[in-house]
Amino acid sequence: MTTSRRPLIAGNWKMNGLAASMAQLGGMIAGVDSVVPRIDLMIFPPATLVAAFASRARGSRIGIGGQDCHVQADGPFTGDLSAEMLADAGAQAVIVGHSERRVGHCETCAVVQAKVLAAWRAGLMAIVCIGETQAERAAGSTLDIIGRQIAQSLPYKAPARDLTIAYEPIWAIGSGLTPTLEEIAQVHQSIRASVVARFGGEGENMRLLYGGSVKAANAAAILHLENVDGALIGGASLAARDFLAIAATYR
Ligand code: 13P
Repeated sequence: MTTSRRPLIAGNWKMNGLAASMAQLGGMIAGVDSVVPRIDLMIFPPATLVAAFASRARGSRIGIGGQDCHVQADGPFTGDLSAEMLADAGAQAVIVGHSERRVGHCETCAVVQAKVLAAWRAGLMAIVCIGETQAERAAGSTLDIIGRQIAQSLPYKAPARDLTIAYEPIWAIGSGLTPTLEEIAQVHQSIRASVVARFGGEGENMRLLYGGSVKAANAAAILHLENVDGALIGGASLAARDFLAIAATYR
């Protein structure tokens, strides 16, 4: 049943990237022919670069998105950005609930769910991140944590084309550590069962990404697991060569 899901390779640049980084986006656009046509590619630059990146990538296979959005469309929220603003700048998607937002900015599952609705209101696809801490994994509660995050962070109804879930174990982010292939497969199977139970056929068609220390060296094994429909990549998405090498593991 994996055939109807188009894999997505997404690069989350986090707080990295200056105007000069346009050269890396240019390199991705120039090299994208080496990537099989059946997969989607997206880059999530810092907000300062969304408009310029979207303009540069227009007409290419690379979509551009934002890394977070406010729940409201506008108003007195100094320093925040709305989903409407991201869409206006040319974004097609937004990441919500990344652990660096949940932990660093005290975002609850309820806030994440409201951000998904804000993304949809603005016509953006939402990538919702979930994942356990090292202590939670050690305690054997990973599947419980994931189940709770799915139950509380996702809206009641969800069309598969507007929602992507990224499983990012917090301890695997930027650490060079990853769960074993069996562990990734187990969590993704559990997420699939949850979203199918909740959303039926839409849950079957929903893309489930893995994120956390994905590199060209480990990408092929991870991306070929059942119920892994792509990756959300941090550090290895900053350079065109690394990003394209991961995408090229699809044949
Ligand atoms: P790394 O690929 O740098 O581990 O980051 C993963 C991540 O947090 C993507 O959102």
